[in-house]
Amino acid sequence: MNHTPLRVALSLSAAILLASPALADTHVPPSALGEPPEFGLLKNAPGVETVFYSCTACHSERIIAQQGLTRDEWSELIDWMVEEQGMTMPDEVEMVEILDYLEAHYNVDRPNFPHHFPVIAGN
Ligand code: HEC
Repeated sequence: MNHTPLRVALSLSAAILLASPALADTHVPPSALGEPPEFGLLKNAPGVETVFYSCTACHSERIIAQQGLTRDEWSELIDWMVEEQGMTMPDEVEMVEILDYLEAHYNVDRPNFPHHFPVIAGN
């Protein structure tokens, strides 16, 4: 079962998220502290934690940030990762959060495309 470590990592993230709702609520934006962004290239907006922890077990958040899709296309892509790549299906609440976030910030107009990171263009 070569997916086992991924599943463990995902369950751990889920457990941490579930165990610390208070922590999430009192989250101070890293920018306020002058620290580097905690969620890499992902736009810091409601839902970013869920997206980051659900989606970066297998690949970098860069692959998300450089993509621009409609809500339906994101939904299909997530289905594909669940069906073909062994991703754990997010629960309903997480799925809505993830799709709301992706639709708002990584839609076809690509409002947050990381133009300033040449490493992506080079890949
Ligand atoms: C279980 C592993 C796994 C998880 C979890 C996962 N992905 Fe993926 N994802 C993959 C694999 C494997 C690929 C294909 C990578 C490649 O082609 O190099 C991929 C590719 C992608 C791509 C590129 C698709 C394209 O058209 O090139 C995007 C965007 C993406 N994932 C977004 C997400 C998002 C958003 C989430 C969270 C909701 C997520 N991934 C969670 C495994 C995963």
